[in-house]
Parts: sequence; C-alpha cells; structure tokens
Amino acid sequence: MSFFSDATLARFEREAAKYPAEQRQSAVMACLSIIQQEQGHVSQAAEVALAAVLGMAPIAVHEVTTFYNMYNQQPVGRYKLNVCTNLPCQLREGQTALDHVCKRLGVEPYGSTTDGVFTVQPSECLGACADAPVMLVNDREMLSFMREERLDELLAMCAAEAATATAKSGQ
Ligand code: FES
Repeated sequence: MSFFSDATLARFEREAAKYPAEQRQSAVMACLSIIQQEQGHVSQAAEVALAAVLGMAPIAVHEVTTFYNMYNQQPVGRYKLNVCTNLPCQLREGQTALDHVCKRLGVEPYGSTTDGVFTVQPSECLGACADAPVMLVNDREMLSFMREERLDELLAMCAAEAATATAKSGQ
C-alpha cells in the first residue's frame, strides 16, 4: 500500500506532468507543498515516499525540505509566525520583535504553545527590509512594521480566532 492516497498521488502526477518525463523531480517543491497542505508538515517518511514517486534520492528531497523554511519538519501550531531576524531587520528591531512574541507566548524560538495555537520561528530576509520589523504568518501573509503594539494586536486576534474555531468545532 502506498504511503500516499490515490488522490494525493494524482495531485503529484499533475505537478510532474508540467515537466519533461526525465525531469519529473522538478516537481519536488510543489509536491512538498501538497504534503504539507494535507498533513500539516513534511515527515521523513513522507520525504522517502515522495522520493520514490519522483525517482530521486531521499536525501535530495530532504535537502529541499531543509533549505526552505516554509516547509515544516515538525507539526506546527495553527498560526506559524516567522519573524525576520536577518541583518537589515536586526538593525530595526527585528530581534526585539521576535523576543517580544516569544515572551508574550512563553516559548523559545522554534517553539509552540502548549495549546497548539502558535509556533514562533526566526526567519531569513523576507524581501521587505524597508518595512522592518517584518513577519510572515502561515507562509502566506506578510506583515510590516510589527512593533510591540501591532504584535500584541496580532496575537490577540489570532488567539480569538482560534478560540472561536475551537468553540465551533465543539458544537
Ligand atoms: S532583512 Fe528582514 S525583510 Fe529583509
């Protein structure tokens, strides 16, 4: 039995079909995104199984997973907060922003809150250095000028959304 469902394998094949047959491994990033979308993170078992699907070495898949910090190698919280701590942001309160979020949530960098709502990670340059401090939420939403007040607003909003979702799922 395959590690992946038939529906997932079909999604992989749609990505692989975008490349010449002998270059199907070019679809590795898209396939990793599919795995993460469906499973929340990319496990080593998933990497090995994907390598077999694309006809490449497991270590080559692992190199991609570990190069880009959008791929989660462990389960993450409902909100994954990446705070840029690259040099230009460091010079404009990037580290202060990361420290503030960690302190507010009671976690270390790369840690998750025990309720599973937040994961906090430092990140490399997000390409908006003039807007420092900059952060990315769930690998999708870029937020600029995230000083303490705005960070507190964000954390409160996310916590409220998570509480509402939990209440709805318990109904
Ligand atoms: S250094 Fe933070 S966005 Fe570029």
